[in-house]
Amino acid sequence: MRRTFLLACWFGLQAAAAAEEKPKVPPLHHLVEVTVPETMKVDPALPLPADRKLVCRVCHGIEDIDKMEFDEVDKDDPKFLRGGPYRRLTDFCFRCHDRERHRRPNVHAMLDDNGEIIEENCRYCHRKVLKRDRRYRLDEIELRAPVDKLCWGCHLKTPHLNALVHQVKPSDKVKEQRKRFLAEHPEVLLPLTADGRVTCITCHTPHPPGVLDEKLPAARQAATAEVEEAPVYADSPWAATIAEDKRERLAELSRRLGRPLDYRYRQIQKEALLRLPAKDGQLCRACHVFDE
Ligand code: HEC
Ligand code: HEC
Ligand code: HEC
Ligand code: HEC
Ligand code: HEC
Ligand code: HEC
Repeated sequence: MRRTFLLACWFGLQAAAAAEEKPKVPPLHHLVEVTVPETMKVDPALPLPADRKLVCRVCHGIEDIDKMEFDEVDKDDPKFLRGGPYRRLTDFCFRCHDRERHRRPNVHAMLDDNGEIIEENCRYCHRKVLKRDRRYRLDEIELRAPVDKLCWGCHLKTPHLNALVHQVKPSDKVKEQRKRFLAEHPEVLLPLTADGRVTCITCHTPHPPGVLDEKLPAARQAATAEVEEAPVYADSPWAATIAEDKRERLAELSRRLGRPLDYRYRQIQKEALLRLPAKDGQLCRACHVFDE
């Protein structure tokens, strides 16, 4: 079994601790109020107090965050994490943690060199290792966090363009199309949250090929790249033209999301962890009817 220091393991490990400890933090939160060891070089832009205690304001720029209800906290506020917004959550982590030492292993690479599952990886998300050849209901798979929050500790809530607009209850039009598509394609899964919202795993499978039995709809995926290299983009020769065309729309989106977005048009070459291919629009057409 691998015993790497998994930068993101706080995700699972801190859950139990957080429940008992004094300072109120959300479940699966980073540990707080410990003394930052002298060996850790904290970015001087973060206001570490003289006693080196890891209090809320070291990481969060939102005043009195510790006196707020968790759902009052605006995670899209650029000050939410100091120096934000961040494109990648890890860029924030590396303001304290050593980038090289803690390069994070990909939890989705769940198979070892012999094609056996690495059970330790399963346990980052599931409380127990499930049978790989049977179908479970979403409430039976014993996830360590609600399915719509499971990915957030390691990924941002807005990891890419359009991720945010999607995390909602579908309109009737989308609902109808999704229903129609799934009726025609029982071999595909596009799961929603228990209360009917689109979430990360609606489009993405967390498991690479070979983990789940192929006959399960949950195993169905577009995988033209190895899980550790995806996605692969190619710079398009049309990049500049398309960028110009999209500039305004991107600027508007960028303002809404509160973080910079790339103007460079990138064409997906290879995909992984997607339930259907997106590069030819299959995934999108499962829920959208485009009149072109
Ligand atoms: C070491 C840095 C650090 C410290 C110290 C810290 N936090 Fe956080 N906090 C984070 C990170 C990282 C996230 C998750 C950001 C994400 O997933 O986008 C977070 C998320 C949160 C959230 C939002 C959770 C959600 O999902 O809506 C709240 C609320 C919060 N922290 C409160 C606190 C409070 C209160 C304290 C002090 C007791 C504190 N934090 C101390 C780093 C820190
Ligand atoms: C302000 C500095 C700071 C930032 C930013 C920060 N950490 Fe930490 N982190 C710490 C300190 C201090 C510890 C305690 C480690 C120690 O004593 O060596 C720690 C411990 C950890 C641990 C080990 C937990 C344990 O139970 O042993 C993990 C995993 C971790 N951090 C992940 C992250 C991730 C992921 C992020 C980004 C989301 C992050 N950290 C951001 C300061 C920070
Ligand atoms: C990153 C989080 C994550 C990891 C790691 C993970 N899973 Fe899952 N697993 C999920 C989620 C979310 C679902 C529900 C969505 C789905 O079925 O695709 C799920 C569903 C399943 C199911 C139910 C499939 C069905 O047809 O109902 C099985 C079986 C399963 N996982 C086994 C495993 C095994 C075995 C491992 C380790 C090799 C593993 N998982 C690792 C998140 C994860
Ligand atoms: C324990 C941390 C962790 C959790 C939890 C996690 N991921 Fe990841 N994920 C990673 C890492 C590490 C990578 C590699 C790329 C990187 O560093 O950003 C990655 C990459 C990906 C990719 C890019 C494709 C690829 O092959 O690399 C997708 C898509 C993805 N994750 C989706 C999800 C979804 C959906 C969930 C929630 C069900 C989830 N992840 C939960 C750590 C995690
Ligand atoms: C509507 C479908 C959809 C939803 C919902 C969605 N994604 Fe994606 N995601 C995609 C597609 C398509 C790609 C590949 C192309 C791209 O980056 O636009 C992708 C790419 C990614 C990548 C790789 C990005 C990169 O460039 O390295 C990660 C990581 C990822 N998604 C995580 C998530 C997480 C976490 C969520 C939930 C917060 C989420 N996605 C929600 C469709 C979706
Ligand atoms: C599981 C269903 C689902 C899939 C798959 C899906 N979408 Fe969506 N999409 C939605 C929902 C739900 C909304 C929110 C608006 C609504 O309900 O009509 C949305 C909204 C959008 C919007 C914003 C439209 C607006 O009026 O603001 C765009 C753009 C979009 N989707 C593009 C895509 C693309 C591109 C893909 C493929 C990569 C994709 N969608 C895949 C369900 C889906």
